[in-house]
Amino acid sequence: MGADPTTAFGIYVHWPFCLSKCPYCDFNSHVRHAPIDEERFVRAFKREIETTAARARGREVSSIFFGGGTPSLMRPQTVGAILDAIGKYWGVADNVEVTLEANPTSVEATRFRGYRAAGVNRVSLGVQALDDSSLKALGRLHTAHEALEAVAIARSVFDRYSFDLIYARPGQTPAMWTEELRQAISEAAEHLSLYQLTIEEGTPFFDLHAAGKLRPPDEAIARALYDVTQDVCTRHGLPAYEISNHALPGAECRHNLLYWRGQEYAGIGPGAHGRLDIDGIRHAVATEKRPEAWLMRVEAIGNGIVADDLLNSEERADEFLLMGLRLREGIDPQRYAALSGRPLDPRRIAILRDEGAITISTEGRLRVTQDGFPLLDAVVADLAA
Ligand SMILES: C[S@@+](CC[C@H](N)C(=O)[O-])C[C@H]1O[C@@H](n2cnc3c(N)ncnc32)[C@H](O)[C@@H]1O
Ligand code: SF4
Repeated sequence: MGADPTTAFGIYVHWPFCLSKCPYCDFNSHVRHAPIDEERFVRAFKREIETTAARARGREVSSIFFGGGTPSLMRPQTVGAILDAIGKYWGVADNVEVTLEANPTSVEATRFRGYRAAGVNRVSLGVQALDDSSLKALGRLHTAHEALEAVAIARSVFDRYSFDLIYARPGQTPAMWTEELRQAISEAAEHLSLYQLTIEEGTPFFDLHAAGKLRPPDEAIARALYDVTQDVCTRHGLPAYEISNHALPGAECRHNLLYWRGQEYAGIGPGAHGRLDIDGIRHAVATEKRPEAWLMRVEAIGNGIVADDLLNSEERADEFLLMGLRLREGIDPQRYAALSGRPLDPRRIAILRDEGAITISTEGRLRVTQDGFPLLDAVVADLAA
């Protein structure tokens, strides 16, 4: 599945601006009323790419992901200049996957050909819902019709595209979600991301929820919605390869796979995270989140780094477990043992197995079951204890 796990190396590029802030979102996204000085940002992106490449030389880039915020607000020339800079400082694989997250409005869809010419070969569209009242409740600026038009344009321009939906929305029933999902699958090609709505602290949805004015489905309905997701997608040939991500076999997002498999990636731009192996030690790197502060930092010292933590073997192994168990393919317990210096506790494995939360495959991989996935945090905590 996906890129060769031994050589994968990804670059995440964060574009931190949006036209408006969605009330559920706690990503590093900012609204600016004055025009963004894209040329100044491009110079800073190039500079940070150069200094990051000096710390992580000799890698071949297998995937690049423009995430946000709303990367589809970038001009195609901006995307092209960033890709050129990556190619200048690193080797790039012939079959590199280059994904760009796009909001599905008509304005953004008109840029798709420009992105393709710049080197993007996959788009991921934030459709979120296929009915207008839900889109309005989620604070989105597009209609369902506009979203489907953007999907059609993506289909005509790119060989690979995906789109996101948010489910477990207030008032959503399993019957409504089954219908919406069927329609989504008929519009999808090879990949869909299906996220359960989470109520994040610091967002307007959090305050509404605390005040009793926003009622997401209760646990039983949320579980039924999750089961519908698995059943409908599997029946239509788009099984989950990760808790929230579904694809035809072989069409998984290679970039996201490298996060979950614990591989190396560089983070470029405001609030980007990276994991780099330098002199045999894994570094967890994070950059300044505020766009203008990041810009000034890069202009002054060449990078926006505000945290560069060296992970010890236990932290490294815990991260491997936490990320790897999100994947349907699970983890190799031997790799966990090699990272942490001790094997997973066989008694805990036996208990979780008896409870039906995990399985051990014939090749010895440890996997969370479909019943175990909704309890993933507890399963990971139990295994890591
Ligand atoms: C940060 S957004 C970036 C993409 C693009 N700006 C957009 O919104 O279409 C990535 C995805 O995260 C998901 N997301 C963000 N906040 C969420 C939340 N609180 N609950 C569930 N999904 C969420 C949405 O599906 C969204 O498409
Ligand atoms: S969900 Fe997407 S468009 Fe909405 S604020 Fe977050 S990053 Fe921006």
